Amino acid sequence: MALSGEKVRPGVPMARGSRRLRISLALACILFSAPIAANEATEPSPTELIEGLLSGRAPVGGPFELTDQTGHRRTDSDFRGKIVVLYFGYTFCPDVCPTELQSISLALDKLGAAAESVQPLFITVDPERDTPARLADFVSSFHPRLIGLTGSLADIRKTAIAYRTFFVKNGASTPSDYSVDHTGFIYLVGKDGRYLGFLPPGSAPDAIADAIRARLGP
Ligand code: NI
Repeated sequence: MALSGEKVRPGVPMARGSRRLRISLALACILFSAPIAANEATEPSPTELIEGLLSGRAPVGGPFELTDQTGHRRTDSDFRGKIVVLYFGYTFCPDVCPTELQSISLALDKLGAAAESVQPLFITVDPERDTPARLADFVSSFHPRLIGLTGSLADIRKTAIAYRTFFVKNGASTPSDYSVDHTGFIYLVGKDGRYLGFLPPGSAPDAIADAIRARLGP
């Protein structure tokens, strides 16, 4: 399922045809299980976020200022000059997030020396539990150059909405025992900070590596 032969214009999703159907199926459980929170009147609905992303018609990405796993403030402009591979998730995620981060890490390994020009980022959708210290343990288990980012819930929500990522906390039987449903797209951001496109959840390491390679330039 290589993407290298696929011509993609800036801002246009890399997903097409049957892949789009697969995304829809993958997201259906999230959409149908998502409770409607009272404050969602002022925020885009999950459907709006996802449709905007899939159609390629809505703007995606933008500036952010968050805290990395070493406690330093980081902004999007820190990563200019690199292709950013961005994934939203949380460290308590039982299986999906670790699998995706493993795929991203394997893709970077496949790129060899070219991966020097790539910055993998993991932004938590669970800032309550994902402290810098917890992120430090988590990201180092995947890739030495993976940067984990956390922040206030408001800053995280703003960044997630900018990337049209949906997340909702649920299932809290005790204050610390809950899961966070979230969409799992992998975003590519160009060396100039502009959004390039996304890869669907479950993309193979080869597909991720091909998509990055196609954008690395000479
Ligand atoms: Ni997850």
